[in-house]
Amino acid sequence: MILIDGKKVAAELREELKHEVTGLKAKYNKVPGLTVILIGDLTPSQIYVRNKEKSANEVGLKSEVIKYPDSVEEKTVLEKIEELNKDETVSGILVQLPLPKHIDKQKVIETIIPSKDVDGFHPMNVGNLSSGYESSVPCTPLGCYLLIKKVEPNLNGKKAVIVGRSNLNGKPMTQLLLKENCTVTITHSKTKDLKAECLEADIIVAAVGIPELVKGDWVRKDTIVIDVGINKTDKGIVGDVDFDEVSKKAKALTPVPGGVGPMTIACLLKNTIECFKRSQI
Ligand code: GUN
Repeated sequence: MILIDGKKVAAELREELKHEVTGLKAKYNKVPGLTVILIGDLTPSQIYVRNKEKSANEVGLKSEVIKYPDSVEEKTVLEKIEELNKDETVSGILVQLPLPKHIDKQKVIETIIPSKDVDGFHPMNVGNLSSGYESSVPCTPLGCYLLIKKVEPNLNGKKAVIVGRSNLNGKPMTQLLLKENCTVTITHSKTKDLKAECLEADIIVAAVGIPELVKGDWVRKDTIVIDVGINKTDKGIVGDVDFDEVSKKAKALTPVPGGVGPMTIACLLKNTIECFKRSQI
């Protein structure tokens, strides 16, 4: 079994990005900038944002975090985004989710100018991705895609089963694998026989938020399994895949933690650099 080392692949990607930033600095005499807006004091969000800032600095990006209390008015956030949209030193804008209830997530996403939408959440980027045009691609599915390609560079004709249909993961994952000529099945909570669907798969991407859902007898010995889940349980953090069982069966598997997670942040930096490069043309 191949244990897919997301930490190592992410470190390699960051190294490549660092060199790229050095080249961009020499060419344009400026570096890409990432601004993250963090609202409230949820611990997981604070940890994510701290890691994002640390990684951005490590590869040489200009990085800024703007913090607001939970009680901030929606208008204040939207006005700040408008200001960042116009700021030439800002290449990418990310508003950390989830947001407090009184702030309209869709309004926030749609206020970010698509050319600086490093999350790829703006409907314009979602549409461009599904039409096969140039776009920002959401960081987590992009990270999953790069990990799958490490194990299997040629995905032509492979059967991929995505477990979970979220806008964040399942749907963009589908688009990325379709582009690679996979035959993609999206499954979800109402799917009749999830096990039977998974047994058909050359590639399984589990992004559904149910602890250890995918079992050992759901996978074949030639299946690549990518686990996007991060679930808090009595026995600690576990993924959407039963690691003990599936690691005895599958061809390749990502661990949790140390699989998809580190790739998400590296892909955010990659997206920021891509936004910068497109803005220089
Ligand atoms: N919260 C958890 N994951 C993400 C992400 O990928 N982007 C944003 N903006 N917020 C998140």
